[in-house]
Amino acid sequence: MFSFFVYLARLKLWCNCEICQSYLTSSWSKQFDNLCDWYTHLLKNSPTQTIHVHVLGNTITANPENVEYMLKTRFENYPKGKPFSVILGDLLGRGIFNVDGELWRFQRKMARLELGRISVRSYALEIINDEIKSRLLPLLSSVEGKKDGVLDLQDVFRRFSFDSMCQLSFGLDPRCLELCLPMSEFAVSFDLASKLSAERAMTASPLIWKIKRMLNLGSEKRLREAIKVIDILAKEVIRQRRKMGFLTHKDLLSRFMRITNDDTYLRDIIISFLLAGRDTVASALTSFIWLLSNNPNVESAILVEADRVLGPNQDLTSFEQMRGLHYLQAAVYESMRLFPPIQFDSKFCQEDDVLPDGTFVKRGTRVTYHPYAMGRMEEIWGLDCLEFKPERWLKDGVFFPENPFKYPVFQAGLRVCLGKEMALVGLKSVALSLLRRFHFELVTPSPTPRFSPGLTATFCGGLPVLHVCFDAGWCRCLGGMLCSVFKVMGSWSSLTMIRSCHPDANLGIGFQAFSRSRNCLIVSFQPTNQIVKDGQGLLLLMYVKLLEFRALLSWVE
Ligand code: HEM
Repeated sequence: MFSFFVYLARLKLWCNCEICQSYLTSSWSKQFDNLCDWYTHLLKNSPTQTIHVHVLGNTITANPENVEYMLKTRFENYPKGKPFSVILGDLLGRGIFNVDGELWRFQRKMARLELGRISVRSYALEIINDEIKSRLLPLLSSVEGKKDGVLDLQDVFRRFSFDSMCQLSFGLDPRCLELCLPMSEFAVSFDLASKLSAERAMTASPLIWKIKRMLNLGSEKRLREAIKVIDILAKEVIRQRRKMGFLTHKDLLSRFMRITNDDTYLRDIIISFLLAGRDTVASALTSFIWLLSNNPNVESAILVEADRVLGPNQDLTSFEQMRGLHYLQAAVYESMRLFPPIQFDSKFCQEDDVLPDGTFVKRGTRVTYHPYAMGRMEEIWGLDCLEFKPERWLKDGVFFPENPFKYPVFQAGLRVCLGKEMALVGLKSVALSLLRRFHFELVTPSPTPRFSPGLTATFCGGLPVLHVCFDAGWCRCLGGMLCSVFKVMGSWSSLTMIRSCHPDANLGIGFQAFSRSRNCLIVSFQPTNQIVKDGQGLLLLMYVKLLEFRALLSWVE
């Protein structure tokens, strides 16, 4: 409690500067949809790419040199710190996400060893593939074509990743993706506990939630009850596993049980994993689908690559094959550049310090690096930084990673995310399985998403989509053949088919081409208004539509 008052005393509770006024009166919201967009604007306009919000005692930076300094060079001076471990302490206890020093070092060593094992990675892929085949695809197919066939994909992805992460962490299957079943009490409590814990960080003063907690009132009462449900379940799973023997089980809990027999510690470790992997993966998938719906050329390029590397209609079967999907990897990285699942991350400065850009940081200051803003900095990504362009990650068609301090989406340095590889495998598997079978149309298209406040980026109102099932491989194959025939056409290049139609439907055909002379992309989606019954008919229709598109290009020229 004493350290809390010291922290409070350090905060400047009132300040007349423009930034603090705008923050205190929320006037920023007149111009920006999201707080992170306002911060991005401020950071862009700062000569050092660093700002200070006095009333929050918070230095925020989008400067890669500062990020490297705090996450690597002077790592010891920038721990997570007490104020945050207190906020998440009731839910996460002493789990890796919430501790510093020796406790962190020990868990990190242990966790890195386990997550690095091929057997664990294969087990994770097995779980993901199973969940995709037995639940995700059947669920989407079941609503396909129905009049009210709108699905909130964000909700679907959250259920999917909760099922997968629970299986990986606890060896427990909550079956959240089976919509006919009510959400398990565990899932509901876990959601509520993460949400209410995150809300603690947003109260005007920490004193508010601390008093409510002491008196067991309102949100704090609900938080306590939710955590109680989680604790009961975790204890029961640990007890059962001990009774049945954990040596033969492949989940993380069983593996950590071989290293420690402290049940509370085990519970904390596993809950941290669940929190680390669950919402992040769901968030990354949601924004990826949102971006693809607005960039059909990227969707098309992903599918063309998949057909080339895996073969039309062939499923992904190995890590080797996945490594060959360079464009997909680039698209996933690019998506998280613009929409990082963790938009910002804070540390607390231990001793007075000066950042590489010259910013003085007083002891006890909260220092935040901001991946969301960093993804939108011209200094880092160039003039086209706001465009969704997977090509920026490719050199001669091969994926090329960027400096992690310019792209700290998985954090970077000594505390870099331990589940990065696993997450990427999961993201790519889900994305590919869906895109090869379905095409998604947004029900409420918008130029930018609005986010709900929380620990991870969540779309306000979810991601309602209408989806259209199609025999993707077959249609694209024909489209690809046609496009390659017309590949070079005067000053137009990169002609690609962006949409195709199913033989039994009248959806439409889309093409796009890039004009070298005018430096512009022309996209055309043409409704076919007719139902084609067979492959030959479809090929003919594509040919006619392509000729029409060529005529359009000549006219534009
Ligand atoms: C797209 C998905 C993911 C993203 C963007 C992501 C990002 C991050 C970030 C930014 C951190 C640092 C958080 C902090 O210190 O405050 C982190 C830490 C961590 N992540 Fe991930 N993560 C993802 C998926 C996963 C998955 C699937 C797992 C587990 C299988 C995982 C396990 C961890 C762990 C254990 C840490 C703590 C590392 C430490 O403190 O030393 N993450 N992750």
